[in-house]
Parts: sequence; C-alpha cells; structure tokens
Amino acid sequence: MKITINGTVCECEKGEFILQIARRNGIEIPTLCYHDGFPGQGSCRVCIVEVVEKGRGRIVVSCVYPVERECEIYTDNEKVRRLRGMTLALLQKKAPDSPEIRALCEKYGAPVIERFTEDTGNRCVMCGLCVKACGELSVGAISTVNRGVTKEIATPYHEPSSVCVGCGSCAYVCPAGAIPIGETADTRTIWNRTFRLVHCADCGSVIGTEEELAYAAEKTGSEPDTLCADCRKKRIAVSFRHTYGEAVR
Ligand code: SF4
Ligand code: FES
Repeated sequence: MKITINGTVCECEKGEFILQIARRNGIEIPTLCYHDGFPGQGSCRVCIVEVVEKGRGRIVVSCVYPVERECEIYTDNEKVRRLRGMTLALLQKKAPDSPEIRALCEKYGAPVIERFTEDTGNRCVMCGLCVKACGELSVGAISTVNRGVTKEIATPYHEPSSVCVGCGSCAYVCPAGAIPIGETADTRTIWNRTFRLVHCADCGSVIGTEEELAYAAEKTGSEPDTLCADCRKKRIAVSFRHTYGEAVR
C-alpha cells in the first residue's frame, strides 16, 4: 500500500502506525510518551499529524493511528504546528520544572499561555510510561495515585516499596526527567529506598542491584548474574575456543 507523507510517497502495510512509517522513511515527528519498548501510550498528543482522506482532513495521534487506506499525511503544516504548540504549552504548565519539556517547547515554538496556572515544582506529565515499564519489565512497584489535580505516580502510601528491585527502568524511560535516581559507586537510591549495586566480577562495571539480579534469576530459574553482558560473551568465546580449538575462530 502507498501513502504520502508531506508529499513523499511511502510504502506501508495496512494497519501500520503513522509514526512507524514516518520514521522508516526518515520523516521526523516529535514524540514524548512514545517508547519503542513500550508503544501504545498515546497520551501526550505531541505526535499529532493531519490525515487527509477524500479531501477531508482530521488531526490524529500518529503513534497509535493505524493506516487503513491510501491517504495524505502532513506532519508539519500550519494547523499541526499550531495544535502541537498548544499541546506543548499546556504540558509545560503541568510540568514547568522539566527541562526536557521546556526544550521541546522551544524547539517547536510553543506559545506562552498566561491564563493557566503552573503546577509549580512538578516535572511529571502523567504519561504513564514509567508505570508501564515497571509493570512489564519488573514488579509493578509504582502506580497512579489520587485523582484530578493531585493525581501522581508513587509507591503505595509513598513508602519505600518492599517489591521494588531498584532496576531504575521507570527513571530511564521517563521522557520528562521526573523520577529522581541517585547513584554512588556502590548504591542506587530510588523511590526513597537505597539498593546495593553488584559489579561485574571481571571488569567491575555495574550490572544491577542485588534485588534486581535475584529477581531476574528467579524469573529465569538460574543463578544471579556475576558478569556483565560483554564479559559473559568473552568468557563464552574463550571456553568455545578451548573446546573446539583455534580453527573455529
Ligand atoms: S514520572 Fe515520567 S514516565 Fe512517569 S508518568 Fe510522569 S512523565 Fe511519564
Ligand atoms: S508520542 Fe504519541 S501520544 Fe505521546
């Protein structure tokens, strides 16, 4: 199937999301809550585009909008720029302390809106990526709590979570830099709890927290890792050579 994006003809499969097609063809669409590992959020609306079918245009969310028939798509026309700018301006009101959101606002020329009050001190745009990452990769230690303007992401009762393994996935996927994570040489602190870090037995690089490695071992029915991925590969290669000789190098 063929569609056009900003006038460029692009091949695609029926049902593919517009964002995927655009990226495959080197066409930029800004995103905030989209993550390759956890697609399908569709909450921030920064990735909006205009789809024109039979001469009629409508604004859609490109990261969750599947293409069903031939159409023209515009990722950066005047209407899209105006609505995207407004969306970003509102997100900045919600998370005025997030440098990442501020940078997006500057890059895409978001207007300054005076009539809404800022959620001072906040960095979170409530996109939900952290909750999804924690639930899918790890243990579901955080969730959305409260309602309305007091809605936030937290551990139960804001207490250090007994199930959190300190993997840091939530902080790494957060597009707004809203989850504080601190590391020393031997510890990682997140969600008000400090975890002891384990270092690779060969090269000394950090391979995870004790709890994270124990959790992964339990899931896979193996012993907790003592090596980083690179050193594990090197050891496998060395043992392979010892077994099969130089000829297989
Ligand atoms: S903390 Fe970050 S990832 Fe989680 S909801 Fe807020 S902005 Fe999204
Ligand atoms: S990136 Fe598509 S809705 Fe957030």
